[in-house]
Amino acid sequence: MLVLWMCGIIGFKGKGNAGKIIFEGLKRLEYRGYDSWGIALNSAGLEILRKPGKIGSLPAAFEGGSLGIGHTRWATHGGVNEKNAHPQLSNNRKIAVVHNGIIENFLELKKFLSSHGFSFASETDTEVIPNLIQFHLAEGLSFREAVRKTLLQLDGYYAIAAVLEGSGTIIGARNGSPLVAGLGRNEFFIASDIPAFMPHTRKVVFLDDREIVELDDSIKVFSVDSGLEIKKKVQRMHWSIEQVKKGNFAHFMLKEISEQPDAIEKAAMQDPARLKKIAGIIGKADNVFFVGCGTSYHACVSAEYAFSEIAGKSVKAVLASEFARHIKSLSEKSVVVAVSQSGETIDLLETVRAAKEKKAKIVSVVNVAGSSLPRMSDETIMMNSGPEICVLSTKSYTAQLAVMLLLAFSLCGRAAEGRCIIRKAAEKAAETIRKSLPAAKKLAKKLSKKQDIFLIGRGNAFPSALEGALKIKEVSYIHAEGFAGAELKHGTIALIEKGVPVIAFMTSESEKQITSNAMEVKARGAFLIGIGEKKSEIFDEFFEIGGCDEAALIPRIIPVQLLAYYLALERRLDPDKPRNLAKSVTVK
Ligand code: G6P
Repeated sequence: MLVLWMCGIIGFKGKGNAGKIIFEGLKRLEYRGYDSWGIALNSAGLEILRKPGKIGSLPAAFEGGSLGIGHTRWATHGGVNEKNAHPQLSNNRKIAVVHNGIIENFLELKKFLSSHGFSFASETDTEVIPNLIQFHLAEGLSFREAVRKTLLQLDGYYAIAAVLEGSGTIIGARNGSPLVAGLGRNEFFIASDIPAFMPHTRKVVFLDDREIVELDDSIKVFSVDSGLEIKKKVQRMHWSIEQVKKGNFAHFMLKEISEQPDAIEKAAMQDPARLKKIAGIIGKADNVFFVGCGTSYHACVSAEYAFSEIAGKSVKAVLASEFARHIKSLSEKSVVVAVSQSGETIDLLETVRAAKEKKAKIVSVVNVAGSSLPRMSDETIMMNSGPEICVLSTKSYTAQLAVMLLLAFSLCGRAAEGRCIIRKAAEKAAETIRKSLPAAKKLAKKLSKKQDIFLIGRGNAFPSALEGALKIKEVSYIHAEGFAGAELKHGTIALIEKGVPVIAFMTSESEKQITSNAMEVKARGAFLIGIGEKKSEIFDEFFEIGGCDEAALIPRIIPVQLLAYYLALERRLDPDKPRNLAKSVTVK
């Protein structure tokens, strides 16, 4: 059976506590997947620990050591069990490998290895890697060369880390899945993402595709194809350690919701000249597509409204996974704005690759520095939201909205005014968090046993309804759907009966019409919740958000984020790690 992975990997070489450092790092990577986890420590021999389920506790015997690798898994196919967990081992049990990605030709490679007497203990594609390394070591190659020769045989996307019993080095490599190296004081790391090693160092080397990294008494990078050494730039990250810790918050989700005022401000601090240049590129284009997945796609839908309403420019929002049908309409006069928190979502990267082939200009809006997307783009706007650890996007969403608005304002020559409006939205976001938190908590108690929640909004509040519904369902598992205000009555109103909650976003532009839509459901017994600038008597509950003109879409989502958070708590769910989800979707 085919097994795909979208996981977190880490490797550490230092003077001691390897097991503990890897374990703590894995916990910070758990947002990438949490079906099972494992560690390989290279101490007297190769010690292997593999467990199904979320990361539990580390046995004392695994705390020490000076070199090892770890893995936290998100599986799409294949059993979640100990034998499919990573690290995967070679037949002689001397090589351990952790892997993120998919080896497309693993069946062929398995056949090749089987014909040379190898056997397989798991259903994973990964298991071919340590065995191929064993095969090439037997040919007399060094560890690094054996890994390189193995990589040359693999088709597909991957990031790996490998250890060889007694070798004293870790070899990592990337091709399409993220991998970054960290340089501490006599301590060296590789990981899928920087937070894994952030408490230890902020000096990083971003690997590019088809590069191998060797962790020994230093970090060296080589080309997979030529084997030659590549000189890489060491960069310093400005994220703080506090940003990857929960601090006084019970969960990252609540912490990140609370960080939004700051994140919105930071997103708005863009270099005006660059913004003007990028807005100019968008303005001159024949056709412009805003492309993303999940929450980032909802920010793209908001861009459709913002560009048309603020700048009179028509742009199109498209789901990255559905972009193929637009490829034919791309030319060198097209612009694709790729929006992504992680900068690693595979469907988006594929869209960008295809758009580049058509010579379209690529502008990306990204949060994670050093991720794949900026490297593929002609222009990049960094959102500067800091690390987002909770699987759900909250602060990165409102930061994306801030960037979209800023671009639209820049396009019509109102950049400075736009910046002031967004600053005001950041203030209103802080006020909204303060005011709506206790009410959201109370409301969650009332709604926690409901089966469905519907959200309606008109105009630029329609994408807010889509995003609000996504927040509620992904974290509370309550079915939620967002609609354009008038659409509910074209079918879904059949589901409205006494007590069904409906959340209506009231905007100044659509006050009358959305009030009519709200009344239609109230007449059928709906429990009506309003979010807007002006309280109205028709609502059973109301969340007031302060006015901030064209940027009202920013604070308006906050009461729903808080409601979703408290619904999860009421239902005794972990808001940071909803079932079946992962933060960074690196498989198709
Ligand atoms: C995953 C996450 C979502 C996110 C989406 C797109 O599904 O669970 O929260 O919106 O990926 O991620 P990106 O990093 O491209 O914004």
